[in-house]
Order: sequence, then C-alpha cells, then structure tokens
Amino acid sequence: MGQYFTNDENLKSEYRNIVYNYKEYTFNFTSDLGVFSKDRIDYASKLLIETYFENAKPERKILDVGCGYGFIGVTLSKITNSYVDMIDVNKRAIHLSNLNIKNNNANCNAFISNIYENIKDKYDVIISNPPIRAGKNVYMEIILKANEHLKENGEFWFVMNKDQGAKSTIEKIKDVYEVNVLNKSKGFFVILCKKR
Ligand SMILES: C[S@@+](CC[C@H](N)C(=O)[O-])C[C@H]1O[C@@H](n2cnc3c(N)ncnc32)[C@H](O)[C@@H]1O
Repeated sequence: MGQYFTNDENLKSEYRNIVYNYKEYTFNFTSDLGVFSKDRIDYASKLLIETYFENAKPERKILDVGCGYGFIGVTLSKITNSYVDMIDVNKRAIHLSNLNIKNNNANCNAFISNIYENIKDKYDVIISNPPIRAGKNVYMEIILKANEHLKENGEFWFVMNKDQGAKSTIEKIKDVYEVNVLNKSKGFFVILCKKR
C-alpha cells in the first residue's frame, strides 16, 4: 500500500466531496484515494488555519507547503484575501488542488515541488501541516529552510503534535526563529516562527 506522499500511477480514482464551513464561507473540496486525510478535513490543519484567521493580517503573499488536496491554501486565499502558491510532491494532490482552486474560485496556483526545489519567490507567510510520516529530514527541512523563502519580517506557521516531538522541535529551531505557541488542542501545537 502506497504512502500519501508517493506517486502511484496505477492507483484508481474514487472522487469524494468534503464541505468546510467557516463563518459566512462555504467551501466544497474534491478529494480522492492516495492523498492525505482523503475523507475529512484534518483536525490539525483546521486548528492551524482557524488560529491563523484569528491572528493574521489580510492580503499577504503566502506559500502552502505540502498542500494535499488544497484545504489550507484555498481557504486562506478566500478568507484573508491573499494570493497563495501551493506545493506538494504528490501529483494527484496537485491535480486535486487545481480542481479545488477552480471550483472555489480562489486566487492560488498549485504546482509540484519537492520541498522548496521549485520555489524562486519570497513570501510574507509560509504555512504547513508538515508531512511527519515522510521522515524527520523532510519535515525539518520544510521548517528550517522556510527561513530562506521568507521576506523580511516574514512568518512561518506550522502545526505539530506533542507525540510527534513538538516540544523538541521548538527547542531545535529557536536559534533560527523567534518561536511562539499560539494555540494548543488535543496535543496539537500551533507554532508561529518569526524571521529574525
Ligand atoms: C500532513 S499532509 C497535509 C496536507 C494538506 N495541507 C492538508 O491540510 O490536508 C502533508 C503533505 O505534504 C506532502 N509532502 C510529503 N513530502 C513532501 C515533500 N518532500 N515536498 C513537498 N510536499 C511533501 C504530502 O504529499 C502531503 O500532502
């Protein structure tokens, strides 16, 4: 059985619809086999963006790293009136993200990138529910190298569970960023990293 971050050309398709409501906004997402949290909005992703909505400034240029079927990027773009680039290593995730950008009329662009390989621009905000199952090398690179793709005063937002090593990760990144935990729920920490 393939992992959600691998590309399996023989995997069949079984589209499904996921609805997300936030205040006056309603979003419809198409999901499929072979992508992360294919049947429901992931709890940690929802916690991350709803914490972001409560704290963030509108009209930012944002990068969503490991976008999956596009939940974070699409909702952020509409609700905060921002432009969002969305990247993932999984081709099916990018196909679904593009479908969901179009169907929700969002101001986003989704494309393949292994971590930051295809990223040339700099962003006000980089946001991620990082792929813990892809291994420590991958998720630590997503967290630490975000710094190189942030504008001055830029912010990196991510979510991690205490069982996935949230506390030790915070200790490891304190030299690079000014780190604040903005929310905690069910063991998940929403972590804001400010560029020094
Ligand atoms: C925890 S999931 C989050 C998905 C989506 N943002 C959501 O909230 O539903 C992490 C995502 O990272 C992607 N990913 C794994 N390894 C990656 C890599 N090396 N570069 C970019 N994305 C990667 C996976 O394919 C997956 O879609």
